This record gives sequence, structure tokens and C-alpha cells, in this order.
Amino acid sequence: MTALIDITPADFRCVEDIMPVMDAAFDPAFGEAWNSGQCLGMLSITGSELLVARRENAIVGFALSRTVFEESELLLIATHPDAQRSGVGYSLAKAVIDQSAKKGAKMVFLEVREGNPALALYLRVGFLQVGRRENYYRGKSGDYFNALTLRYEIAS
Ligand SMILES: CC(C)(COP(=O)(O)OP(=O)(O)OC[C@H]1O[C@@H](n2cnc3c(N)ncnc32)[C@H](O)[C@@H]1OP(=O)(O)O)[C@@H](O)C(=O)NCCC(=O)NCCS
Repeated sequence: MTALIDITPADFRCVEDIMPVMDAAFDPAFGEAWNSGQCLGMLSITGSELLVARRENAIVGFALSRTVFEESELLLIATHPDAQRSGVGYSLAKAVIDQSAKKGAKMVFLEVREGNPALALYLRVGFLQVGRRENYYRGKSGDYFNALTLRYEIAS
């Protein structure tokens, strides 16, 4: 049986602890991983939140989001490759939605590169595609990728 996932809020002191997941989870070809300075910068901005997922006390994933008034944005979500496809990403995404709702958000937005398997997770959680930006991201190879905008509506 897979051990339970424990999701807890964290702050800037946890940034170095999530970096191994960041570095292992993101494909360097797309340049989507943030460095610790970028994470710390975001966490210094009002409304930013870090959620950390642990399994048997080991950090297996995290989500970074920000809520401003009625809108939240899921900025970053990652699961360590050794723990993928075992429900960590789903639990984190749901926890971001719950946390956003508690803060008074009515919607959660996110942007994802077209072709990123994360899209399947977002659709499973209940996000809907509401926009598409052509050639929005540029990968390490110089290739351009479209961005999809997704929205989750929080029931009132
Ligand atoms: C996207 C990511 C966070 C998903 O995390 P995860 O813990 O593996 O996700 P879950 O196990 O909770 O998946 C829940 C469901 O989402 C869908 N899903 C998740 N990853 C998928 C994949 N690679 N391919 C297809 N469907 C996928 C499936 O429906 C899955 O349910 P199932 O395993 O029962 O089929 C993880 O793949 C990751 O860290 N990717 C690299 C970082 C990244 O690109 N993040 C998104 C942009 S910030």
C-alpha cells in the first residue's frame, strides 16, 4: 500500500529543501525550473504560498501559488520522479484550491506549456482550458511552445 501523503504549508526556510525535487522533476530542455532565488523572491511577495508534500517524512513534491483578492494562480507544481503517478500532484493541486478558497479566491488560474503531461493532471483536477498563447515559451533549444491558460472555478 502507498504511504499517505502529508501536505503542509511552508515558508522561505523550506526553499532549499524543495530544490532537489525542483531539479529532478523539471526537464532542463524547457527551462521551466526556478532557482532558489526566484522561489525566495516569490515567497517575499504578499499572498504567495508554498505547500510541501511529504511521504514518510521525505519531501516528495511541492506547489507554489499566489492569491490576490478573488484570484489565485498556481505558479509551479512538481513531484519527484520517484514519487510520480502516485497521487502527489493531484493532492497538491487540490490543496492549492482548498487553500485559495479559504483565502477568498473564486478562481484559480495557471499556465502550462502545450505538450506538458501536467495538462492531464490539471484536467483531472477540474481545470478547464480558457486560453491559448501561440509561441509563448522558448525552450533551451530555441524552439517555441504554445501556452495554455486554464481556470478552476471555486464553487461559492
Ligand atoms: C505534473 C506532475 C506534478 C504530476 O505529478 P504526479 O504526482 O505524478 O501526479 P499524480 O500522480 O497526482 O497524477 C494524477 C493524475 O494526473 C494525470 N497525470 C499525471 N501525470 C501524468 C503524465 N505524465 N501523463 C499522463 N497523465 C498524467 C493522470 O490522470 C493521473 O492519474 P493516474 O496516475 O491515476 O492515471 C509531475 O509530472 C511533475 O513534477 N512534472 C514535472 C514538473 C512540471 O512540469 N510541472 C508542471 C508545470 S509547473
